[in-house]
Amino acid sequence: AVMVGRRVKSRRRWWNVVRALDEFEEAASTPVGRLRQVVDAMAVEMHAGLASEGGSKLKMLLTYVDNLPDGSENGTYYALHIGGTNFRLLRIQLGGQRSILGHDVERKPIPQHLMTSTSEELFDFITVSLKEFIETTNGANQIRGKDLGFTFSFPVKQTSLSSGTLIKWTKGFSIDDMVEKDVVECLQKALCRTGLDMNVAALVNDSVGTLALGHFYDKDTVAAVVIGTGTNACYLERADAVIKCQGLLTSSGGMVINMEWGNFWSSHLPRTSYDIDLDAESQNPNDQGFEKMISGMYLGDIVRRVIHKMSLESDVFGPVSSNLSARFVLSTPLMAAMHEDHTPNLTEVAKILEETLNIKDVPLKVRKLVVKICDVVTRRAARLAAAGIVGILKKIGRDGTAGITSGRVKSGKSGKMRRTVVAIEGGLYLSYTIFQEYLNEAVSEILGEEIAPFVTLKIMEDGSGIGSAMLAASNSNQNVDTNT
Ligand code: GLC
Repeated sequence: AVMVGRRVKSRRRWWNVVRALDEFEEAASTPVGRLRQVVDAMAVEMHAGLASEGGSKLKMLLTYVDNLPDGSENGTYYALHIGGTNFRLLRIQLGGQRSILGHDVERKPIPQHLMTSTSEELFDFITVSLKEFIETTNGANQIRGKDLGFTFSFPVKQTSLSSGTLIKWTKGFSIDDMVEKDVVECLQKALCRTGLDMNVAALVNDSVGTLALGHFYDKDTVAAVVIGTGTNACYLERADAVIKCQGLLTSSGGMVINMEWGNFWSSHLPRTSYDIDLDAESQNPNDQGFEKMISGMYLGDIVRRVIHKMSLESDVFGPVSSNLSARFVLSTPLMAAMHEDHTPNLTEVAKILEETLNIKDVPLKVRKLVVKICDVVTRRAARLAAAGIVGILKKIGRDGTAGITSGRVKSGKSGKMRRTVVAIEGGLYLSYTIFQEYLNEAVSEILGEEIAPFVTLKIMEDGSGIGSAMLAASNSNQNVDTNT
C-alpha cells in the first residue's frame, strides 16, 4: 500500500508540473490574432507618442538625424559604444562609393561595479580604453580621425545631433549623478582628462547607428531594431508627422525617431505571473515592460522563475535548490545553450542545470521539460518583437494595408508595395538561431504571403557602432583631406 501510495503521489507531482507548464504556455501564447492586436497597439502608441510629449509610454525621441549615410562618406573615424554587457571601440576607414576600407573592433566587458558608480569613473574607464585602442590601431603614427561617434544606448533627450541629456537608465545601469546631464559633455570632459584631442561629432542611439549602416548599404532601409541586452527600434519618419514638434524643419523633410520601444505597453501583451514578479523585483518597476519580455537581460531569468515555481510545487527537480531564488543566475546565453542542445540525452541541459542551478541528476523527461520552458519564453519574445516590427511598418504605410486602414496611399497609386528593408542588430538576435527563426517566421505570418516578400530583415552586425562613426563622418566639421 505504501508503494502504491508513493507512485500515486509521484504521478501527481509530475502532473502538477505538467499543469503548471500548460498554464504558462497558455498565458504566454501568441497566436497570430493576438500579434495583430499588438501590431495595432504599437502603431496607435507611435501616433500618440508623436502627438504630444508624454502622450504615450513610447517616447518617440527626436534624433536630429535627418540624412542617413549614402555611401559617399570618406575618411577615418572612431566610435565608442556603451550600453549593454560589452563596451565597444571601433575604428573605420571609409573610402566613398559604399566602401569600408578598414574596420577594427574591440569588445570589453564593462566591469559590473562601474554600472552603478559615478559618471566620472565610468567615463574615465571609457576614454582610457579609447586611448589604448587608438595607440594600438594607429601605431606610432599621429592620431588620424579626430571625429568620434558616440553610441549611447539609453533614452536620451537630444538637443542636437551631438548633444543630449540622459532621461533615465535602463538594463541594470544606475548612476544617479548622470540623469538629466548632457552625456556628450561628460564624455568630452573625460576625453580632456585623458588627454585626447577629439571631437564628439554625433551622439547616437544603437538602433540609430544600425539604421545608418543599413542605409549605407541599401537605400530601402527605413527602420532598425536592436535585440540584445535590451531592445529598441527606430525608423525614418516624415518631419510633419512629428506633431509634438510643430514646424520641425529638416533638410530632407524627414527625421529618424528613436522609439524606445522597450517601454511599450499594451493590455494585449501576453503577460504571466512570472513577468509580474520579475518586474516588481527589478530596478525599474513599471518601466520597460516590452523589453522585459523580449531582451537578453531578462529571458533567462523568466525561465529560472518558472523552474523555481515548479520545484516548489513538486519534487521532480529534487530538493529545492537555493540557487533557484537568486536573480539572474541563469543567463540568457546559458538558456539558449539548453534550448539548442541537440545531444540525444540532453547532456548540455543536465550540465547547465547542475552547474548554475545546482539541480542534479534529473531524468530525461525533466530535461525535456526545461527545453520546453525555454522554447515558450523564446518563442513569445521573438514573436512579440516581430509584431513590433510590423507595427512600425503599419505606421509608415508599408505593411500592405495602407489606404485601407489609414486612408493614406503611401505605397503608390495602386497601393503597390515598395521593397522595405529593416536592419537588425544585437547579440540575442545574432547568436540565437531559434530566436531568429521564430522572429522571421512571425513577421511573414503576420504580413501574409502576399506582402511578406516585399519586406526583408537584414543583419547589420556592429551597426550600432559603425553607423555611429558614419554619422560622425556626415557631421564632421573637418575637411576630408586632413581627416584621411
Ligand atoms: C534599452 C535602451 C535603449 C537601447 C536598447 C537596446 O532599451 O533604453 O536606448 O536602444 O536598450 O540596447
